[in-house]
Amino acid sequence: MFKKKTIEDVDCQNKTILVRVDYNVPIKDGKVADDYRIKQSLPTLKYLLEKKARLILISHLGRPEGRPDAKFSLKPVAAVLAGLIDVKVEFAADCVGPLVEEKLNQLKPGQILLCENLRFHPEEEKNDEGFAKNLAIGSELFVQDGFGVVHRAHASTEAITHFLPSVSGFLLKKEVDTITDVMSKPKRPLMAIIGGAKIADKLDLLKKFISLADVVAVGGAMANTFLLAQNVDIGKSLADRNEVPLARDIIEAGEAEATKRRFVFILPHDAVVSSSVDPAAPTRIVDWSSHVVADVENYPKRVPRSASEVAANEMILDIGPFSGSFIAGSIQLCDTVVWNGTMGVTETESLQGPIGPYAHGSELIIESLLGQFGHRPFSLLGGGDTSGYIESRGLIDQFNHVSTGGGASLELMAGRKLPGVEALANKSSKVQ
Ligand code: 3PG
Repeated sequence: MFKKKTIEDVDCQNKTILVRVDYNVPIKDGKVADDYRIKQSLPTLKYLLEKKARLILISHLGRPEGRPDAKFSLKPVAAVLAGLIDVKVEFAADCVGPLVEEKLNQLKPGQILLCENLRFHPEEEKNDEGFAKNLAIGSELFVQDGFGVVHRAHASTEAITHFLPSVSGFLLKKEVDTITDVMSKPKRPLMAIIGGAKIADKLDLLKKFISLADVVAVGGAMANTFLLAQNVDIGKSLADRNEVPLARDIIEAGEAEATKRRFVFILPHDAVVSSSVDPAAPTRIVDWSSHVVADVENYPKRVPRSASEVAANEMILDIGPFSGSFIAGSIQLCDTVVWNGTMGVTETESLQGPIGPYAHGSELIIESLLGQFGHRPFSLLGGGDTSGYIESRGLIDQFNHVSTGGGASLELMAGRKLPGVEALANKSSKVQ
C-alpha cells in the first residue's frame, strides 16, 4: 500500500500548487511525437483545477547539460497540454526568477503555467537547495507526479520537498501501487520479458526476476550479448562485448535457479537478420539452435550450415519466428507478464503496412498478451521503447498497465528506494 500522502489527503482548494510532471517526451521537427506522458498527467491536473488551484508545472526534457538549448524546450508541450485539457496554459520561458513571477502574477485560479525545462539550469541535477528554494517561490504545496523521474535525487524531486509541504499526485500513486503489487504478490505463473540494449542497465532487474519469476525471456539487442556468451556468431550485430562475462553469470544464475524449482530461462534460438537497417533491404531468418530448420525457399530440405549462421556482414534485428512463438506460447501459460524492452528494432517503419520489418517478434508478444491465442494474462509494460511502440500502434489502452517510467520502473521493480518518493510526506505525518 502507498504510504505517502496524496492530493486527496491535503487541502488544495484555491492554492497555488507546484506540480512536478515528467514531460520528457520525444520531440520531432519541433512537435510532440508521443503524448502518453502528458495524457497520464491529466487526472491529477484536472482534480487540482476543479479545486480552483493555480498550477505551476515543472519538468525536464532530454539532457541539455545545464544550459538553454532550443531543441530541448518544453514550449511545444504547452500547446499539446492545452488541447488535451481544454484550459488556458501559459508558458514561462524559465522555471525560476522574474519571468515566472511575472506570469504567476497574472495566473487565475483554474489556470496552468508551464515552465521551461528545469535542466537548463545545472543546479537542477545537482539537487541544489538554493535552486529548489527559488522553484518554491509563490507556491503553497508541492505535488510530485513525475513518476518517470523519481529515481533521480534532483532539485525538483528531492530538495524541493525541504521548502514546501509535499504530496503525491494520482499518477505517481498508481504507478507505485501497480508495480509494487506485481512484484510483491503476483498472480502466478509470472513471466518477465526483458529486451533493450545494455545488460548492465537491467542487471538488477534480470537478477530479481530470475529469483522471482517462473519464466524469464530475453530479447532485443541485449540478447546478442547472451548469444556471444554462448559462442554464437552475431556478425555485426549491436552487442556489448565487455558485458559477455556478465551475460555468462546471468545464464549460470538462470541454470542454478532451474535446479532448485520449476523455472525457465529463454534466450532467442533464431533471428531476423539483414545487412542493413533499411526496410527495403532483404531479410532472412537464421536459426542457430539446429541445422535442420528450413528457410522459406529451401523448406522442407535441410538447410546448409551457412543458412543457420549470421554472416559477418549481417546483423540481428529481431527475434525469429520460432523464438517469438515460444515466448508467445509461454505467455499463454502465465497469469502475470511484465514486459520491458522490445524484441527488435521496432522503430524502423515498414514500406507497406503498419508493422515494421523488425517488429514481428514484438507483435507476437502483443497478440499473445492481448488474448488473441485464448488466454489474457495481467500485463505490466514499461520502458520507453516498449511504451513508444505500443503507443505508435494505438494499443496503449489495451494493456493492464503501461508505465510512464523507464529507469524509475526498473528501479522500483528491482526493489530500490526512489528518492523522489521517499522525500514526500508520509500518510501518518501532519502535513495539511
Ligand atoms: C525518463 O525518460 O526515463 C525520465 O524522464 C528520466 O530522464 P533521465 O534519464 O534523463 O533522467
